[in-house]
Amino acid sequence: MAKLDVNTPQPIQLKDYTPPAFLIDKVDLTFDLDEDHSRVSSRLVLHRNPDHPDARAPLTLDGKELTLESVKLDGEILDGSRYQTDAESLTIAAMPDNAILEIVTVIHPETNTSLNGLYRSGGNFYTQCEAEGFRKITYYLDRPDVMARFTTTIVADKNKWPVLLSNGNRVGEGTLDRNRHWVKWVDPFKKPAYLFALVGGKLSRLADRYTTSSGREVALEIWVEPADLDKCDHAMASLKKSMLWDEQRFGLEYDLDTYMIVAVGDFNMGAMENKGLNIFNTKYVLARSDTATDVDFDGIEAVIAHEYFHNWTGNRVTCRDWFQLSLKEGLTVFRDQEFSADMGSAPVQRIEAVRTLRTHQFAEDAGPMAHPIRPESYIEINNFYTVTVYEKGAEVVRMYQTLLGRDGFRRGMDLYFKRHDGQAVTCDDFRAAMADANDYDLNQFARWYSQAGTPTLSVRGQYDAAAASYTLTVSQTCPATPGQGEKLPMHIPLALGLLGPDGADLPLQLAGEQEALAGTRVLSVQEASQSFTFINVPVAPVPSLLRNFSAPVKLDFPYSRAQLALQMAHDSDAFCRWEAGQTMMLQDLQTLIEAARAGGELGLKDDFVSAMRQVLADDALDPALVALMLTLPAETYLADQQSEIDPDAIRAAREAMKLGLARALRSEFKAVYSRLQDQGAYRFDAQSVARRSLKNVALSYLAELDEPAMLELAEQQFARADNMTDSQAALTGLVNWAEGDAALAGFAAKWAEEALVMDKWFTLQAISRRLGTVAKVKALMQHPAFALTNPNKVRALVGAFLHSNLAGFHAADGSGYEFAADTILAVDKLNPQMAARLAGCFNRWKKLEPGRRAGMRSALERVAAHAGLSRDVYEIVSKNLQ
Ligand code: ARG
Ligand code: ZN
Repeated sequence: MAKLDVNTPQPIQLKDYTPPAFLIDKVDLTFDLDEDHSRVSSRLVLHRNPDHPDARAPLTLDGKELTLESVKLDGEILDGSRYQTDAESLTIAAMPDNAILEIVTVIHPETNTSLNGLYRSGGNFYTQCEAEGFRKITYYLDRPDVMARFTTTIVADKNKWPVLLSNGNRVGEGTLDRNRHWVKWVDPFKKPAYLFALVGGKLSRLADRYTTSSGREVALEIWVEPADLDKCDHAMASLKKSMLWDEQRFGLEYDLDTYMIVAVGDFNMGAMENKGLNIFNTKYVLARSDTATDVDFDGIEAVIAHEYFHNWTGNRVTCRDWFQLSLKEGLTVFRDQEFSADMGSAPVQRIEAVRTLRTHQFAEDAGPMAHPIRPESYIEINNFYTVTVYEKGAEVVRMYQTLLGRDGFRRGMDLYFKRHDGQAVTCDDFRAAMADANDYDLNQFARWYSQAGTPTLSVRGQYDAAAASYTLTVSQTCPATPGQGEKLPMHIPLALGLLGPDGADLPLQLAGEQEALAGTRVLSVQEASQSFTFINVPVAPVPSLLRNFSAPVKLDFPYSRAQLALQMAHDSDAFCRWEAGQTMMLQDLQTLIEAARAGGELGLKDDFVSAMRQVLADDALDPALVALMLTLPAETYLADQQSEIDPDAIRAAREAMKLGLARALRSEFKAVYSRLQDQGAYRFDAQSVARRSLKNVALSYLAELDEPAMLELAEQQFARADNMTDSQAALTGLVNWAEGDAALAGFAAKWAEEALVMDKWFTLQAISRRLGTVAKVKALMQHPAFALTNPNKVRALVGAFLHSNLAGFHAADGSGYEFAADTILAVDKLNPQMAARLAGCFNRWKKLEPGRRAGMRSALERVAAHAGLSRDVYEIVSKNLQ
């Protein structure tokens, strides 16, 4: 167990927020980049902040891992008695109210494996400053409420680093002696340091143009390694669509003359919205139909949009402090989801977002790391770039729109920008803009920002035939989470319809209302328990609840199997239709899990099979929706439904259901596969994507059948595929059988030079039921394409195994836990952020059956006891052991 001592990292609290003692008006940076060190000269124009409580407060700048060369105050060199430094700061006690401070530091990007601050990748220079990376570049007030105008001059060798980029507009360039050159950039917008960016290297550019609705000409540039220039077209098209969409939907235009995107292979996250110079993980830029799947194409479109949308929701209006992270992230995820819905199929996008939320965020909310979308404390802020802050945050933003309507939401957005453009604000400011623009009381709604945990809505229906009325009684509860025992009722939008016996929507009229309205309506649930009575209901209805997933809650309604089947076949709301199928599927999986634990028979129920048969036969349904309805929940999601997790029983149950459906619906799957097989040349559009997804779901079932003819289908698809979607789907079916070895070898030989394709090859094996073992993963870590320093590789192989291969990771002998502990400690020395992500694999430990629970606990304790643990990993393991 970790002991509490002076070195124990201490949490930072939201309630301790104080404004900065100084503000910075202007920053001039000069970077002298070189192979074995780089020099950063900074000139800050500062003034005392009148809003700070102490008018004589010292100036304390943040700084980490810096070698200080000199400090000058108003032109005078300070000797060591005039300032103090420690491992994380530089303090000047005697400060005038207005000052010019010049600081020179030396840093080592060439040995910076944390990928935080300035670092090297493939010989080039890149930065990542959010959240607190800028302090690894120079001493600064590294907090988002300090916003300054930045000028950046970069000096470097002309041949080694010909391209030199930073934020804003390029205003000058020239050559120097020793074959060096310089480029100067000026960013006209005030910004916090976390939005600073610098790139230097040998890069090629795809260039395009965009004219905004008011006539501003914008140069668009995507910078990548020369070999990747043929994989940028989709990213560029996505960028232009995003720019147009934000003008049309929110009236928001781009504000600089140049918009640059740079792709880098070593990157901790997806991408970063630095002003005018976004830096992206290559995974979210590079795509060619033969190297990237439909899922990759979708992901690129969404992340390009996300980072572009941040220019307004994040950059023009930013966060006061990092507790407000969801202010920009929840809102920007909501915006990118709305964009994706408009670009493709809205119901499909919505169902996929719900699946992500339930699989990952509900799990987080039920575990040791549970936190509200606005956390109250953190040890390491990088641990709070979570599915809760992002995805649940987006659900909270969506609820404003559900309650206020699209137009009301737009009025709130307009007021938000009118009030706060150029400011660093809080989630309360956003909520106030929504409330004031609509004259709507959102006080109770504030609890979504402060209460963690997933609420459960229990709904019961009572039909009164004599009165022709139907009463819904809705009660809400929210489980205790770490540090929060008691919860108060939330303000929950409950969208619903009522279905008649034929599955069609009945008119809806609440008691007291003059007329009935057809379709969906939104009830505002605010009490711990409350009732809603519908009148003029001619027959006992089937309620269609939580339409379009109108709130991030768990729904409890005692549906009968026949009611679920009716919804699956007829509900006008695609989400509810899918949900009814999931509910039935989960019920039956639960029965199978219990049977597997008891050593019983694992057969399927007839009504389930025939409901699925009907889904497959429904020609009117979007093929993508059919594919989703036939997709089984993840093993980890099933684990989260158990009071005690037995990984082997979960795997056995899930596989029994898959094989059972494959056997029962063999001819239907074959027919679907044949009908969709031949699609001509690859195209990326909603319809083609939908057809490929259903075809490949059918193949995934057929490949479960132990029949040579079925494996031949997969082999043929693998051999003939002209696109990665089909190729990967075929390979996924094959790897579960010995026949897959040849295909895997061929795949690796063909794609050895394509890092992102090799990531798929690692993941396929890590999550395969045949190959995904500790021994295999360890062996693959020795493969020449693997690197412990590269986050994409670590995520693709180790992350996939620990997080997505339930039965593999939880091998009964405990080898998965020992492997996890060893790897977390090894990665922690290189890259703490990455190590902390891996450490999340322990978050479910208290729910495992006793044998595994003991194994996980001792692995956690071993990590916790390790000397020199990073703050990042310390926070995860200590919260697990609390
Ligand atoms: N703001 C970025 C995005 O959402 C994510 C940056 C996260 N970086 C980090 N080091 N935690 O697009
Ligand atoms: Zn973001």
